Amino acid sequence: MKSPFENKNIVLGVTGSIACYKAADLCSKLVQLGANVDVILTEAAQKFINPLTFKSIAHRPVITNLYDPESEIAMAHVALAQRADLVVIAPTTANMIGKLASGLADDPISLTVIATSAPLVLAPAMDANMFEAAIVQENVLKLKKRGATIVGPITGRLASGLTGTGRMIEVKELIGHLSAELGKNSQLAGRKIVVTAGGTIESIDPVRILTNRSSGKMGYAIAEAARDNGANTVLITAATQLSDPSAIEVIHVENTEDMYKAVIKASKNADALIMAAAVSDYKARLKSPHKIKKGSSNSPYLELETNPDILAEANGAKVKVGFAAETEDLLKNARIKLDSKGADLLVANDVSSSNGVFGSDTNKVTIIGSCGFIEDLPRMSKYSVAQNILHRVVEILKNRS
Ligand code: CTP
Repeated sequence: MKSPFENKNIVLGVTGSIACYKAADLCSKLVQLGANVDVILTEAAQKFINPLTFKSIAHRPVITNLYDPESEIAMAHVALAQRADLVVIAPTTANMIGKLASGLADDPISLTVIATSAPLVLAPAMDANMFEAAIVQENVLKLKKRGATIVGPITGRLASGLTGTGRMIEVKELIGHLSAELGKNSQLAGRKIVVTAGGTIESIDPVRILTNRSSGKMGYAIAEAARDNGANTVLITAATQLSDPSAIEVIHVENTEDMYKAVIKASKNADALIMAAAVSDYKARLKSPHKIKKGSSNSPYLELETNPDILAEANGAKVKVGFAAETEDLLKNARIKLDSKGADLLVANDVSSSNGVFGSDTNKVTIIGSCGFIEDLPRMSKYSVAQNILHRVVEILKNRS
């Protein structure tokens, strides 16, 4: 499993909006992710941003004019459209939305859209009043019915100085939607994957909590990799410092009991449950409704009670994957957890402080399977670890079908 953008031909259409600066960032990120990016600028877009910016980032000629004899689009106007794996227009103005909805083809972007069979993603940006206008809404609906994916606009400060729903979606989120679009026919297409992430939080009183050092990054990387491979992904998270990944159903929970309920419900008809969350095994037996005061006891005593073991009890998914966070006897303990929790795969994770796992973007794990295999992976990005885990999940699902 590789990055969904690797060697993909992406046409990036840019239309005239103050949000054009975000298109340069998008272009740069797509190139870094391994995509071949062909940029087309409308005349209006060129008033906001120079074609040279995109030429320098994408290392390819930029198309600016339908009638330029030097441009590829004039020589063979369908060539770009035919080789495109995806067409994204970011930002998309109300004018371009109107043109696409009406089937006009009088500029290189609308022409490419008509000539391509590649998926189309639009990231609108305009004044809130314009986006709310009945004609724009009608056009958006028309395009959605025809299969276009429309992401945003989001609510925030607009160029007019007012606040409203008209800002182009942030580049990071847009990239998530593009990954999901590119992955639609990948190995996990049609599969439902439930992933948990973060460290659950148990309240002691309104101020104090019991929790752990998990950042949630490993679980988020698994959810993103599942999405990028076509899965319908549900992320149940207790992480507090990470932003929601796009094109994924995200359910926020705080404590183990809530995570338990959410997992049981979501994993009922799932293909896989991947428990990357660091789940609190205990909670305070009595939660104080008021802040416990310093003088209330000389030697405060905190009585704990056991939480449910989610992985052991959730049996709805076809494949169960657990993590073993260990500081000693890594493989021995992982094997015990694999058996006792009825998992198909266990990802053994040395979380000793010297290993620097918590909060890091990399991880070093060993994957063990209930059928006896052991795969010791070198240190790699959490996204790559996620892809390795999902590769194993795909194999198990294949063997079982
Ligand atoms: N897990 C769970 N419910 C719990 C505790 C753990 O579902 N109450 C899951 C974790 O998400 C992980 C696996 O079980 O996938 C192992 O978790 P870990 O914290 O390593 O082990 P514990 O079972 O809690 O055992 P111990 O704390 O003794 O190591």
